[in-house]
Amino acid sequence: MSDHSPVTDWVHDFDHTDPRWTENPYPIWDELRAASPVVHTERYLGCYMPTTFEAVKQVAYDTEHFSSRRVVVRNARPEVIPSPPITSDPPQHKPAKQLLLPPFTPDAMKKLEPRVRAICNELIDGFIDEGGCDAAARYSKYIPVRAIAHMLGIPEDDSDRFIKWIHEILELGIKDEAILMNAVHEMMAYFGGHIERRKTEPTDDLISTLMNARDQNGQPLPDMHVQGTLRLLLIAGIDTTWSAIGSSLWHLARTPADRERLLAEPALLPSAVEEFLRAFAPVTMAREVMKETEIGGCPIKPGNMVLLSFPAANRDPTVFPDADKVVIDRKQNPHAAFGLGIHRCVGSNLARMEMTVAIEEWLRRIPDFRLDPAGKVTWSEGTVRGPRQLPVLFGKA
Ligand code: HEM
Repeated sequence: MSDHSPVTDWVHDFDHTDPRWTENPYPIWDELRAASPVVHTERYLGCYMPTTFEAVKQVAYDTEHFSSRRVVVRNARPEVIPSPPITSDPPQHKPAKQLLLPPFTPDAMKKLEPRVRAICNELIDGFIDEGGCDAAARYSKYIPVRAIAHMLGIPEDDSDRFIKWIHEILELGIKDEAILMNAVHEMMAYFGGHIERRKTEPTDDLISTLMNARDQNGQPLPDMHVQGTLRLLLIAGIDTTWSAIGSSLWHLARTPADRERLLAEPALLPSAVEEFLRAFAPVTMAREVMKETEIGGCPIKPGNMVLLSFPAANRDPTVFPDADKVVIDRKQNPHAAFGLGIHRCVGSNLARMEMTVAIEEWLRRIPDFRLDPAGKVTWSEGTVRGPRQLPVLFGKA
């Protein structure tokens, strides 16, 4: 069992599930970056963290020394559960990824956009007359889950079940292997039923696309591959974008100048979305060290994990001037929110479209809003960071 006592020395003993990290990780990352390009903790059976953009990039590009077979830092090293392509290393990675690219092109996203706009408006209709709401629990949470359910061809009404699995796999499962495995088995049974049904009643959704896919030898994908990819799409497609939309609304709720500027200059929305992705990048991944190497002059030993924090890379002031400021018209913004190297996000076009539509529709219908001083904003722990409670009041203060 890993140690979860409170941290007293971040540089030599960091813990990415410490409540202070969950609440506000940015000053901690600044402290770690000032100390070294790579830091190490004995927690989680041994784990490094690259702290600069350059060190994160080196790890992400080096698939020889760093494997993706485990992509979450957990207390234990449970059996490897393949979810291709995110858990695949070369040479298996490329064919597994290529299968997934066509359904996520910008053109495919244009076709999906009206459905996402309708989802946003249905949700807003549900609370606009209440004078305020929890913008995470009632808005940002339900947009991506319903969009990816629509793409996969599974009922949007099962959204709460999908969200429960994600919470169990990405948060509770960090410390409790039984919860993790139980959620994985429940998902397999769920998708198993949908796969069976399509054998007699084919559909034109993502589940059928994967069932009809052929590998380089013209063979159908093994069931475990189809199942693993479906789990990945459901997990990757939901709390990532839910977090990104939530953090964007959190910023706009507490920064009237940026909100008013976006209302007056809607053409700034694309650069604002990129800046929200940079500043509040939700996704931290992991790698497993396979062979001894060196990053930024620091020796790296096999057997350890690596906490691969794209969010920390995005706050590196040598790459992003005023890295801790949100600059909605930032000109140069080569952020790493969607990852770097071969595993770069498949869903980036979908995520950007969902963020844009969600912010646009919210601002169109609720141009004035602010944090509710009587409520409390809370953040998710671990792999994906975003607001889970975001109480706001509508109208001018
Ligand atoms: C703002 C929202 C999102 C962010 C910040 C994000 C971030 C990331 C990151 C950092 C990676 C790289 C993982 C690594 O290097 O190990 C990744 C991979 C991936 N993402 Fe996303 N993601 C988002 C939304 C989505 C959506 C909506 C989908 C669609 C289902 C998706 C599907 C995937 C898949 C399939 C991969 C694996 C790609 C590979 O291994 O080659 N993501 N994402």
